[in-house]
Amino acid sequence: MSEITRDVVIVGAGATGLTAANDVKKAGLSVVVLEARDRVGGRLWTDVIDGAMLEIGGQWVSPDQDALKATIAELGLETYPRYRDGDSVYIGRDGALTRFTGEIFPVAPATEAEIVRLIEVLDTLVAQIDPDRPWEHADADALDRISFEAWLADQTDDVEARDNIALFIAGAMLTKPAHAFSALQALLMAASAGSFSNLVDADVILDERVVGGLQQVPLRLAERLGDDVLLNQAVRSVEWGDAGVTVRTGDGLTVRAGQLVLALAPVLYPRIEFSPPLPRLQQQMHQHLSMGFVIKVHAVYDRPFWREQGLSGTAFSPYELSHEAYDNTNHGDERGTLVGFVSDRPADDVFRISADQRKERILESLSHYYGPEAKNPIVYYESDWGAEEWTRGAYAASFDLGGLSRYGDDLRAAVGPIRFACSDMAGAGYQHVDGAIRMGHLVAEQIVEAVRG
Ligand code: FDA
Repeated sequence: MSEITRDVVIVGAGATGLTAANDVKKAGLSVVVLEARDRVGGRLWTDVIDGAMLEIGGQWVSPDQDALKATIAELGLETYPRYRDGDSVYIGRDGALTRFTGEIFPVAPATEAEIVRLIEVLDTLVAQIDPDRPWEHADADALDRISFEAWLADQTDDVEARDNIALFIAGAMLTKPAHAFSALQALLMAASAGSFSNLVDADVILDERVVGGLQQVPLRLAERLGDDVLLNQAVRSVEWGDAGVTVRTGDGLTVRAGQLVLALAPVLYPRIEFSPPLPRLQQQMHQHLSMGFVIKVHAVYDRPFWREQGLSGTAFSPYELSHEAYDNTNHGDERGTLVGFVSDRPADDVFRISADQRKERILESLSHYYGPEAKNPIVYYESDWGAEEWTRGAYAASFDLGGLSRYGDDLRAAVGPIRFACSDMAGAGYQHVDGAIRMGHLVAEQIVEAVRG
């Protein structure tokens, strides 16, 4: 049993917690970060699997993610662009594969016109939304009452146009079915990325990667904190009051501090026993936030064979098990890597069959885009964040129908000495590392202000 005292205790050594810790330390406050896992980074994790370096969690950086880009530059990390030379492929409702270039899928002219129109409608609405306060939109209540699926059905009768627009937010971002979240939540997702057009454009949203993996960001942030980051310290209880907090871990460590930051996914708060309990509002609100679910599939080949066919590797279809896939070859690697994504209901379905059957079905889906060679990778790996005790889903959390307008304004409010921060609560950069870093800076600023008065 040991005991330490700090100005600030931060729970969670992900991008949020480590950003906040560095900021409060720079401001002259003492800090400790308690991390449940035996590594830092949370949803950022680079590992070597069967000889292949894989980014198991978050990896892409987009040009407008200022907070993340500033951190990458400040840490002296190098980036490289996603491979994108050649044709993309799309599989339509009729099962036909078409090669194309540009952002709009090769669909029938009438469907294309509907997709373009819907993107314009969404861009107009998104431009009216402040991603940090979407609940303040004049129609927020109405937009939060209707599922994104139902809202799209009101907009157009063109099923393929609807399926594509839905997929950009549902399968590809919130990783929940489009009937499970509101139109307002969809607008927040798009506003957090600058516009709906940005989400549609893989060249923006999936622009570049960090050499050595994006986990370099939390690793380097943690290096700067040295012994102030403690691993294998799952926080089990928090006693709180006007004088501060007493935090206890499963490893027998007690930390007393004036301020506490919970820098973990909100679905995990119930793992901690609060004394006194959190106020009723937080107890209710946190139950309306749930994680999405996606399997990130990595398939490594002896060479990027699709490039020989003039393919960029970018593939998309609302009708395929792997609804999107990309060339994910590592910087300087001779081997070729494809990354595919299986989301929400289809992800549930493939976890009901054996691992071998799942692999076969997923590779079959990739072969529809790239040909039979895709069925024989030399390394195959499924990132399964749903099975991770300290995450429980991917990419992040979102509100159920009506939750955003009901609770959004309270989401980031402090409770006495306790503050809540993570990418799941971000406005700009929501669900992304950029949002995690923004939340880390914000919460540190609030703490410094609270401490200095
Ligand atoms: P995060 O979950 O990373 O950190 C919280 C930490 O708290 C964890 O380390 C956890 O172990 C710890 N913890 C939890 N409970 C605890 C307790 N009781 N005691 C102590 N510690 C506790 N983003 C992006 O920008 N580009 C991308 O390409 C992608 N792609 C992507 C793919 C996949 C598969 C995933 C899972 C995620 C992404 N993301 C992404 C999202 C991005 O990775 C994510 O939003 C941020 O890394 C979240 O950072 P946080 O620090 O907010 O939470």
